[in-house]
Amino acid sequence: MSHWIAACAVDDIEQEDVARFDHEGRTFAIYRSPDDAFFATDGVCTHEKVHLADGLVMDHIIECPKHNGRFDYRTGKAQGAPVCVSLKTYTVKVEGDRVWINLD
Ligand code: FES
Repeated sequence: MSHWIAACAVDDIEQEDVARFDHEGRTFAIYRSPDDAFFATDGVCTHEKVHLADGLVMDHIIECPKHNGRFDYRTGKAQGAPVCVSLKTYTVKVEGDRVWINLD
């Protein structure tokens, strides 16, 4: 069953940037790519639970602010040491001026 929720306004995130979204005790990271698409992953690094929204977006990569571990935020795939566990990803859609994510 789908569980769509409005996460933020489109204008809250610039291209090649990331925003934190908290909902019911969970934390997510929402990304806007250089080609203006939106993506969402779990919001904390799988290495030591640092918030990825404090990290750096480069092309389609999020770099963790603590040890510079990297993930492809389109797939969640870890890109190598020190991170080896990938991120969970979520389906995203844009309706009007809002970004929605499917929490299932
Ligand atoms: S906490 Fe993210 S790479 Fe270590």
